[in-house]
Amino acid sequence: MDFELTDEQQLIRQTAREFSDREVGPRAGENSTNHHFDVDLVAMIADQGYLGAIVPTQYGGAGLDYQTYAIICEEIGRHCSAMRTVISVQTSLVCSTILRWGTEEQKQRYLPRLCSGEWLGCFGLTEPDTGSDAANQRTRAARRDDGSWVINGAKMWISLGNHAKLALVFAQTEPALKHKGLACFLVETDQPGFQPQEIRGKFGLWASDTAEIALDDVVAAPDSMLGQVGDGFKVAMSALDSGRYSVAAGCVGICQASLDESVKYAVARKQFDRPIASFQLVQDMIAEMVVRTDAARLLVFRAGAIKDAGKPSTTETSIAKYYATEAAVWCADRAIQVHGGAGYVDDHPVGRYYRDARVTTLYEGTSQIQKLIIGRAATGINALV
Ligand code: CAA
Repeated sequence: MDFELTDEQQLIRQTAREFSDREVGPRAGENSTNHHFDVDLVAMIADQGYLGAIVPTQYGGAGLDYQTYAIICEEIGRHCSAMRTVISVQTSLVCSTILRWGTEEQKQRYLPRLCSGEWLGCFGLTEPDTGSDAANQRTRAARRDDGSWVINGAKMWISLGNHAKLALVFAQTEPALKHKGLACFLVETDQPGFQPQEIRGKFGLWASDTAEIALDDVVAAPDSMLGQVGDGFKVAMSALDSGRYSVAAGCVGICQASLDESVKYAVARKQFDRPIASFQLVQDMIAEMVVRTDAARLLVFRAGAIKDAGKPSTTETSIAKYYATEAAVWCADRAIQVHGGAGYVDDHPVGRYYRDARVTTLYEGTSQIQKLIIGRAATGINALV
């Protein structure tokens, strides 16, 4: 495995870093404080080509590989996890899924609009009573005589759900078939039965748009299914293979930002007539951040290399997602510790890093689900049945 970035990857890192420092960083704190989903910033991210990074150019994407995509997620995630979440949902959960499962017509219709940011998309898998047990969908889809479908149910914790013009909606067509009855529909949200509502009171990720969605006789066109009836669960899992990777990459950014802020503060801040960076217990925290940041980044690159080789990467993706998200929570928490009281108020961004990191061990599969996937691969035994 080659650990050196190519010239192109180095250039993309530099460009993404400059863009993130210039445009994302300065807005991140205020957008968070104001609970503001910054659509103007989303448009700028789209203009950079970051919403369709891994989509081939023929569909309006940037045609980049997965490792380069990780670099972009890291650099945006370094300043703002809410904006990195936009990239993850739009690029991984929505675009890569249409790319993998869509017909040529579906790709032509949706991918250019999504890659350009003209439309946002969302991923409607989770429900009020269906989280980790994703196969157990309560939302129902019934076929009508004309071949179209009527969908009824509810979705929960849906990032971009209030702004999305396209929703991937997972629904059960025949409950007796369990996960083999699931289907995924491309639903255009501009219809009265699609009713999103903002979720308030979140612990963090305040600048992200998060919705619960009521689906009341929502109509999906006859040609709107991704794959076939029965493919829905696999569609969801393959989407999460890409989504979890991007979350992990974004968390490398949180780790790096926590480390950078901690070093800056520890060198400048004096106690007992010397910089607190000179105390061994402070260096212990910083050294541990360095190690976890490095390890997370390498695990992400390994998963990316496997994806770029076109090989199955579910286990390696879960390892990267599990490790990087837990590392991000840990690094952000320790960054607050290094800052002391200064880290507990908005004068420094580390409190926001922590609030925004916290969801990453929950969404797109909890740490416990990642461990079950990893444990199953190691033992050959499914702990879920
Ligand atoms: N790709 C393609 N197919 C896959 C797959 C993958 N990565 N993983 C599993 N499958 C297939 C299997 O081959 C199997 O196929 P067959 O029926 O033909 O044999 C089928 O799917 C069932 O697979 P499993 O036996 O592995 O299913 P399971 O029930 O044992 O375990 C699970 C599934 C791992 C627990 C899964 O339900 C899971 O990941 N749960 C967590 C759900 C989750 O991550 N939700 C997050 C929602 S997204 C989000 O957070 C919203 C947002 O806006 C950010």
